[in-house]
Amino acid sequence: LRLGVLASGRGSNLQSIMDACRQGAIPAEVVVVISDKATALALERARAAGIAAHFVDIKSFPDKAAYEQVIVDILKEHRVQLVCLAGYMRLVGPTLLKAYHNQIMNIHPALLPSFPGRHGQLDALNYGVKISGCTVHFVDEGMDTGPIILQAAVPVLDDDTEDTLAARILEQEHRLYPQAIKLFAEGRLQLQGRRVMIKKASA
Ligand code: GRF
Repeated sequence: LRLGVLASGRGSNLQSIMDACRQGAIPAEVVVVISDKATALALERARAAGIAAHFVDIKSFPDKAAYEQVIVDILKEHRVQLVCLAGYMRLVGPTLLKAYHNQIMNIHPALLPSFPGRHGQLDALNYGVKISGCTVHFVDEGMDTGPIILQAAVPVLDDDTEDTLAARILEQEHRLYPQAIKLFAEGRLQLQGRRVMIKKASA
């Protein structure tokens, strides 16, 4: 399965996906990484791995549709079959959603539908929940609202700070995202309305 990854920052999830692919843990390959931030570490990680890396500057386009069309062009050029958002800090618009219908995943650092948005870990901590975690979901037009594929839970501890909780969640993210991609690559994800059914592995 040919993967395209969109990332705005550090790229630790990108790294875990590239590593899982290279180790043969998932039948997939990251063929291109695109970032809306020129300085994103994610781009460096891609280049270090010999993977095509593109910075697309939204400021050089008249609107979001034109910006996303260029991203779609790059993805298509690399024959990408699944788009993985990994710390991509923008809402996906209709141009990208139409080009990759039900073929875009995201990872969010909270147990959705609780605590969507940019500060999932801190919002969970401040709310006072005792369990948080991460969610891999298909992307729709909303903010972190698409059909849930996999979730993993972690405890919230009394002495947690945003950083310690985020680190505990991140460990699970690095495990969960490759797992979700593997299920997709194996053709085992089936959408029924909002529900994502996971078919048994064929023997
Ligand atoms: C992760 O916590 C992810 O859940 C969220 O943004 C962060 C990205 O981290 N969407 P990284 O760039 O993958 O290290």
